[in-house]
Amino acid sequence: MTQLSAAQKTPDSSRTLYGGKGTRRITVRDLNAAKERGEKWPMLTAYDAMTASVFDEAGIPVMLVGDSAGNCHLGYETTVPVTLDEMTMLSAAVVRGTSRALIVGDLPFGSYQEGPVQALRSATRLVKEAGVGAVKLEGGERSHRQIELLVESGIPVMAHIGLTPQSVNTMGYRVQGRGEEAAQQLLRDAKAVQDAGAFAVVLELVPAELAAEVTRVLHIPTIGIGAGPDTDAQVLVWTDMLGLTSGKMPRFVKQYADLRSVMTQAAQAFAEDVVGGAFPTEEHSVH
Ligand code: KIV
Repeated sequence: MTQLSAAQKTPDSSRTLYGGKGTRRITVRDLNAAKERGEKWPMLTAYDAMTASVFDEAGIPVMLVGDSAGNCHLGYETTVPVTLDEMTMLSAAVVRGTSRALIVGDLPFGSYQEGPVQALRSATRLVKEAGVGAVKLEGGERSHRQIELLVESGIPVMAHIGLTPQSVNTMGYRVQGRGEEAAQQLLRDAKAVQDAGAFAVVLELVPAELAAEVTRVLHIPTIGIGAGPDTDAQVLVWTDMLGLTSGKMPRFVKQYADLRSVMTQAAQAFAEDVVGGAFPTEEHSVH
């Protein structure tokens, strides 16, 4: 029988999630301890080992191998076509590139909607083949049976409510939870995923006041994206945050760098050097 290490049994309440030094991976219990301390934390998406290693070195405590990989890494228009094979391959790369962050693998569209048994089969692949520490799935009340079985089976689950991009064909990309009835449904969804055993919940594109209320009511951490400043954590898609994504960004994205310009300029400088004979020089040659 596998024994839990002392570190797994007891979250270290003396260390912070961001900026804390640690020799072991962050666990879901560390996130719950952070909520009790009132500590906010950052989460970024990652889809490959090298980028993930940069974020791990930067101290990002939780990385989501999101199915946003569909639009941001694999060249699809939406997240809908992403497959479980693709998510398993990308998640394994991110796990290999990191040593401290908790890695959460997203269950793609079609890999859990049939019911709890399908969800367990899919989540088991992400845990066993990719080595993720937790999985994420979309839906509140409608996904509570899936969450229950995964948690009973020993797989930590991050839920995702509000705007759920896998439902783009029915929902569109609109703010969720506006108006009394929709706000009540969002609160019911939040309580349903907590009751089912989710360790955290993403709130996407919901009014800031409603996200603040959900955060007050729940004892599990809330992770906002387009949900205002009062959630316990914030997540951004890394290609948006670093300015690699092209086109108009949603209002909730803050861009911390302009990688697209940096990469374009570097590629053009290389091309001009090659065309003009300035690269390679003696310095770059072997004899
Ligand atoms: O797939 C993803 O990147 C996500 C985040 C936007 C939360 O679900």
